[in-house]
Amino acid sequence: MTIAPHGGTLVNRELKDKALEDARIRAKHLTALTLSEREVCDLEMIAVGAMSPLQGFMTQADYESCLVRKRLQNGLVWTLPVTKSVTAEEKGNIQKAGEIALKTGNGLVLAILQVESAFPHDKKRHAECVYGTLDGAHPGVAQVNQMGDFFVGGKISLLARPPHEDFLDGRRDPVQTRAYFEEKGWKTVAAFQTRNPIHRAHEYLTKCALEAVDGLMIHPLMGETKSDDVPARVRWDCYKVLIEKYYPADHVLLSVFPAAMRYAGPREAVWHAICRKNYGCTHFIVGRDHAGCNRPDGKPYYGSYDAQKAFDEFSSEEIGIEIFKFEHCFFDRKTGGIVSFKTAPKDADSFFVSGSKLRDMLRAGQLPPVEITRPEVAKILIDAMKEKKT
Ligand code: ADX
Repeated sequence: MTIAPHGGTLVNRELKDKALEDARIRAKHLTALTLSEREVCDLEMIAVGAMSPLQGFMTQADYESCLVRKRLQNGLVWTLPVTKSVTAEEKGNIQKAGEIALKTGNGLVLAILQVESAFPHDKKRHAECVYGTLDGAHPGVAQVNQMGDFFVGGKISLLARPPHEDFLDGRRDPVQTRAYFEEKGWKTVAAFQTRNPIHRAHEYLTKCALEAVDGLMIHPLMGETKSDDVPARVRWDCYKVLIEKYYPADHVLLSVFPAAMRYAGPREAVWHAICRKNYGCTHFIVGRDHAGCNRPDGKPYYGSYDAQKAFDEFSSEEIGIEIFKFEHCFFDRKTGGIVSFKTAPKDADSFFVSGSKLRDMLRAGQLPPVEITRPEVAKILIDAMKEKKT
């Protein structure tokens, strides 16, 4: 039995054959708006059903409902806005209820949007509701501040995929991951979201999860991230070498999650889980400070377990994917392995290297301790840092 997508039906907004030909001709005569990097990611995810039941960028009714109720207008749980922003001038050019073309920064037309709604974007309210802060240093709030003063919403039809040069061996749509799980006979699959290289604590979470299910999908987010996160291209090499050497290949699928990162903590955790349900996963891992980020002074914007608590607002039927919650994990010298706050002995001897110390070691070409990261992963990170310097 396969898990139902959010809302019951897997969306497919990709045009084919005659419909595609006709739309391409039509698109040439439409006003074309440029998509931001994040909007390109969202567009592709909507088209392939990763954001089912969304069929397009949000209308005012869904946007408002998402901000206030964390639900779509129809009541389905939906915690993050998925929007196409426009400037006042662009809004002026949009015929209400007409069609517009959506293109990349390079002018490639990717889709047609059927305009159903054009409405003002209150940036403060957006930031406050979704990120819980107005601080422009928060990367999600900074994204909001860069958006236009209006949104345009409506169903999309995809004419072309965004051009991808990377990770072509790992790009699988929800239909394909679902088919893969079926073929493998995996009845239960845990998804692991990450925007980082997989270090030992991450590895521990994924393996604990795999103990309880048939398959593990390592599903790194490969869309837009903030500039100080490790680039996706480098991470991809890390994931591959790690899985090859340290995971049971028969029970693990590495696949791209083509989303852009919002750093919205609790709201993003729920959204991440729902998207993974659409990919056919039955379980989703949420650890410490999921999708969080730090303030300039190093303090986190969200509490360590806020992302886990976010699921308590909804019934498990509404979420429809089981959440594996993990407490903070670390290497304990006393027991000689990774433990969590839940499993550690009273006199655990935690071995900790801060993120900045780890970066300094890698920059200096030093292998970090094996308690923190696997040497093969560290080597790739060291080489990438060398390349960056030259
Ligand atoms: S995230 O933005 O994708 O959440 P990251 O890649 O660091 O960031 O985390 C991936 C997943 O691992 C998240 O569910 C996060 O909560 C969890 N995680 C990361 N580090 C730890 C840790 N030391 N202990 C417990 N969970 C962790």
